[in-house]
Amino acid sequence: MIFDERPKDNRRDLFDREKELEKIENNIIAKKPLLLLVGVRRIGKTSVLQTALNEINETSLIIDCRKLKENYGRRDLYSLFSQSLTSRLDKLKDILRKINGVSIFGNYVELKWSGKDYISIADLLDHLNERRIIIAIDEAQKLRGPLSKEVKDAIAHAYDYDKNITFILTGSEVGLLYDFLGVNDVESPLYGRYYNEIELERFDKEKSIEMLKKGFEELSFSIKDDIINSIVNEFDGIPGWLVFAGLQYFNKRDFNEIKETAISIALNEIEKLTGKSPASRRYKTVMKCIAKGNESWSKVKECLELEEKSTISSSILSNILGNLEKMSLIKDYKFLDPIYKEASIRIKP
Ligand SMILES: Nc1ncnc2c1ncn2[C@@H]1O[C@H](COP(=O)(O)OP(=O)(O)O)[C@@H](O)[C@H]1O
Ligand SMILES: [Mg+2]
Repeated sequence: MIFDERPKDNRRDLFDREKELEKIENNIIAKKPLLLLVGVRRIGKTSVLQTALNEINETSLIIDCRKLKENYGRRDLYSLFSQSLTSRLDKLKDILRKINGVSIFGNYVELKWSGKDYISIADLLDHLNERRIIIAIDEAQKLRGPLSKEVKDAIAHAYDYDKNITFILTGSEVGLLYDFLGVNDVESPLYGRYYNEIELERFDKEKSIEMLKKGFEELSFSIKDDIINSIVNEFDGIPGWLVFAGLQYFNKRDFNEIKETAISIALNEIEKLTGKSPASRRYKTVMKCIAKGNESWSKVKECLELEEKSTISSSILSNILGNLEKMSLIKDYKFLDPIYKEASIRIKP
């Protein structure tokens, strides 16, 4: 079913993306060490990842970092690994049984994250390497933070020594993902490592229309062309929004209400992304200024100074703009997601 809001995990429910699936599967077959799967929120990274992993005949783990907080600790990190290993216990029991610091209780995998018999991430990876395995880290930029170095050291170690492991890292905040990996940063343990990258693009108008029509057809719902066109015009070709709008229209039949709901979802996400510090106020004001059509450095600066009734340091503004780009919210003074743009216009001063 295309109009299902959960990430997809098989080709029947996934619209298009054949080329991307093939590329991912080829990387896996070729035993490449590291693959990045990037693209804006709702573009379908998790769906494509899960579908590819379900299709290949190899053991895989998905470490889901979506819920990791900015200041996550070792316990949080190990709990993600623990959940992931638990979900693949049937395939990994024999390996996990032999590892110090790992215990299996019923169908749950416990990991000791501190103390004398703790298991390091690098050790764990070395053990998993006993057999061919794909380790996917979803929204890997969230691993930035206090434990960044430890995780990167472990990945770099596995990159060099654990030839049975293929890592697939996804990221919605693409610049932050590059920062985390630091492949261009001489200080980073992953410096200079080669990786492949697949970027998921939005669907063009034709594909978006086709996807919506197919979704409504599956629900045996006859939909007027003008509604399809309104959805495509407002939500662009971002599949997550298309699914959201299609499903909402099926349930409520009120296009304006759908748009309002989408905008309030986006506003909520913007709050979470920009955080609660006093500096976050400025991030939101800059977003609002750009959303209102200030599409150059000097216009954004003027708008921000008028909003804040204060002169603003150029280096601070350029820092904010750089970070908004790294978060994949804005590129060249334009929003990457039309709903985020609408939401930003409504940010309260
Ligand atoms: N190609 C696709 N076909 C059908 N539904 C899709 C497709 N891509 C994404 N979706 C839907 O869009 C939403 C967001 O997809 P998801 O895979 O979670 O995106 P991401 O991980 O990039 O944020 C989900 O509801 C998912 O079911
Ligand atoms: Mg995802």
